[in-house]
Amino acid sequence: MVDKPIMTTTAGSPIPDNQNTLTAGERGPVLLTDYQLIEKLAHQNRERIPERAVHAKGWGAYGTLKITGDISKYTKAKALQPGAETPLLLRFSTVAGEMGAADAERDVRGFAIKFYTPEGNWDLVGNNTPVFFIRDPLKFPDFIHTQKRHPRTNLRSATAMWDFWSLSPESLHQVTILMSDRGLPVAPMYMNGYGSHTYSFWNDAGERYWVKFHFKTQQGHKFYTNEEAEQVIAKTRESYQEELFGGIERGEFPKWTVQVQIMPELDAEKTSYNPFDLTKVWPHSEYPPIEIGVMELNRNPDNYFAEIEQAAFSPSNIVPGIGFSPDKMLQARVFSYADAHRHRLGTHYESIPVNQPRCPVHHYHRDGQMNVYGGLKTGNPDVYYEPNSFNGPVESPAAKEPPLRISGDAARYDHRVGNDDYSQPRALFELFDAGQRERLFKNIAAAMGGVPGFIVERQLGHFKLVHPEYEAGVRRALKEAHGYEATAVSLEEQSAAE
Ligand code: NDP
Ligand code: HEM
Repeated sequence: MVDKPIMTTTAGSPIPDNQNTLTAGERGPVLLTDYQLIEKLAHQNRERIPERAVHAKGWGAYGTLKITGDISKYTKAKALQPGAETPLLLRFSTVAGEMGAADAERDVRGFAIKFYTPEGNWDLVGNNTPVFFIRDPLKFPDFIHTQKRHPRTNLRSATAMWDFWSLSPESLHQVTILMSDRGLPVAPMYMNGYGSHTYSFWNDAGERYWVKFHFKTQQGHKFYTNEEAEQVIAKTRESYQEELFGGIERGEFPKWTVQVQIMPELDAEKTSYNPFDLTKVWPHSEYPPIEIGVMELNRNPDNYFAEIEQAAFSPSNIVPGIGFSPDKMLQARVFSYADAHRHRLGTHYESIPVNQPRCPVHHYHRDGQMNVYGGLKTGNPDVYYEPNSFNGPVESPAAKEPPLRISGDAARYDHRVGNDDYSQPRALFELFDAGQRERLFKNIAAAMGGVPGFIVERQLGHFKLVHPEYEAGVRRALKEAHGYEATAVSLEEQSAAE
């Protein structure tokens, strides 16, 4: 017979009976002294924590990054040196849906990686798209409100989405990707990942280069049409979890080829587009991708809540050799994520095992909710301030980043002035074959059901500036899907709204 462990209370006291509550008499009411029952109910009441305000539904696994190329002249980051192998956690997600949302919904996918490097955690919190809907972080809460539920109807609102997008032409690039085939991948392994922002590399000589990260799927791109996705959702809402978890359990380990684009620091002053604008890519012809390694996922977590729900990714987590850039969206994110984690998981969220760095951690932060690490992170109970005379941890000048070049007067610059929002969506549209274009038109028309004519017309105006065939195709699809016609009223409302 197997010796089974004894069940205990959280305080370690053995539990004599886990089937029957303590009652006054066989048919009598429960006694308040049944603290085992109370502990069980109280724990259950506390099982849910706030879901992520965005990217609430997710799927994750562990894996490895292996570096096969040599970019040591650009960066001193140890995880990126030739031959380095770094353990990692990757969480994929959708953006708008809540935790119970169906997996096979059209949405941008999160692609968040935590690299456990010998110099601390490096988090690359990207998406499956190389660009984003907005370029100024002041608009992020407004944008997300249009993606979430309407306050009165508690339903998602196509009107809010297209109103915001049509008033924000910088969204065109990302909207085109979202409505294209790549907006609804079959499962996480069939899509690319992108760091999206421009980051920087710096080397031992203190030279800085701008960099973009790309993770190209080795499984090939596979997507659902809207109709196929409806069939999938009718059968299962968990298709991504099933595919990712099931695949890894079967030993089918998904892989991505890792590439970087490198831009010399001073080129940023010469490109026709702002290389720190998150709505733009760097054309491959100008900055060819350099292959640097391979990323593989090969282990499922043992406890979804502990390891995936409690995972805390933050763009603020960088390591020596990697830096930020002047991208204002990135700066907002450097603040926002750690703030979200302190709210969602608690002050000491980085002591949760999945978030713990796999290198020594020394700091002078102290008390607060859930200080579970015991002692001080200085390694000495008498060393609790800095500077001190007792050999406490000290700063490391070797980790000092070269100065970041910035210029200009502080002001609220209008980011819509002099910005070409149409050329790059056009380059993408021109890549699409006839079938891809038709599906793009249909997907947009489906997503525009019920949107007032003047908003539709405003958006069609933007599509026309991308490509006349884009506008004509969507207009035709709108007619086919909803019998839509531009009316005098819709055109009049549009011009009144402008
Ligand atoms: P290239 O032809 O050199 O690159 C095209 C890129 O587009 C490839 O990375 C390819 O990804 C990707 N792509 C191909 N089909 C689709 C699709 N249906 N949906 C989304 N992406 C697709 O041209 P450029 O570098 O000049 O870029 C042209 C346009 O391609 C850009 O405006 C942008 O919209 C898009 N793009 C560009 C990227 C970049 O970093 N330059 C990255 C991703 C997209 P893959 O190799 O996986 O097939
Ligand atoms: C999640 C804020 C833009 C990718 C989140 C979360 C916040 C947030 C608060 C929830 C974090 C948590 O509770 O754990 C912002 C702000 C942005 C922004 C303020 C812009 C100003 C972006 C961009 C990308 C991105 C541009 C991708 C390029 C993600 C991903 C997650 C996420 C992948 C989920 C991370 C995970 O799996 O835990 N974002 N975001 N976000 N965001 Fe953003």
